[in-house]
Amino acid sequence: MENMKRMLESCWRVCIPHFDTEFVHDALVKLVTLEKDWIPTAEGTSLYIRPFIIATDRALGVHAAQNYIFAIILSPVGAYYAHGFDPVSLYVEEHYKRACKGGTGHHKVAVNYAASILASEEANRKGYDQTLWLDASENKYMEEVGSMNIFFVINGEVVTPELGGSILPGITRRSTIELLKSRGYTVIERKVSVDEVIQGSLDGSLTEIFGTGTAAVVSPVGSFGYKDTKYTVGDGKLGKVTKYVYDELTGIQTGKKPDEFGWVEQLV
Ligand SMILES: Cc1ncc(COP(=O)(O)O)c(C=O)c1O
Repeated sequence: MENMKRMLESCWRVCIPHFDTEFVHDALVKLVTLEKDWIPTAEGTSLYIRPFIIATDRALGVHAAQNYIFAIILSPVGAYYAHGFDPVSLYVEEHYKRACKGGTGHHKVAVNYAASILASEEANRKGYDQTLWLDASENKYMEEVGSMNIFFVINGEVVTPELGGSILPGITRRSTIELLKSRGYTVIERKVSVDEVIQGSLDGSLTEIFGTGTAAVVSPVGSFGYKDTKYTVGDGKLGKVTKYVYDELTGIQTGKKPDEFGWVEQLV
């Protein structure tokens, strides 16, 4: 339902009419029930559920459309970490921007991803796995990764960029904050500058970086690049907090650990 609420808010931002969340929820449950034989059972695998809306007006023009298709695609997906928890490398992008305050970055709309592709290709060519975006106005604060929110462990505290209007409010981000706070961790939502993170990497106060998102759940970050320099995060390996969040969230998702937060809904 949290995803559904975010989809509604995203629709509002691009003038797509509201939909009935109860109806879509029922449709989704029916679809997954019908297709349940496609749900993979091996460790770490899942059935990815992707609802989407596209405009289908038979006309050209820059204005709100009248006709839409709402569809849900299901796709069995393999284990994200089939070969173990391999830390990824991120390139801190200083030229291209994916989102600005007042734009659409806070919403899940396709234009954000279109704006990100060239930078991703260039980051890959430089040898990095994904792009880490900086804010569009001052070009110095960390925002998020291609399809993940980002967390830093600095001096033992868990820090994540505050949602300032240009960052997607990730559901996994929210769950991570709630989970860690409930387990006694200090979690702070604030601005995090690239200078602070570089300094932390150099003086050892930055011990972990991890990304959070539906697909990856939690992804350890072993290094990051900025301009022409590559920096290591901690010892470059999977960190304690990262592993803890992964184990807890997947434990709750799979029913191996109790869901004290009321996050899980059993569909079939
Ligand atoms: C740009 C962006 N940021 C963050 C996320 C993580 O969001 P969630 O945890 O809701 O999957 C996603 C995932 O779709 C994303 O596309």
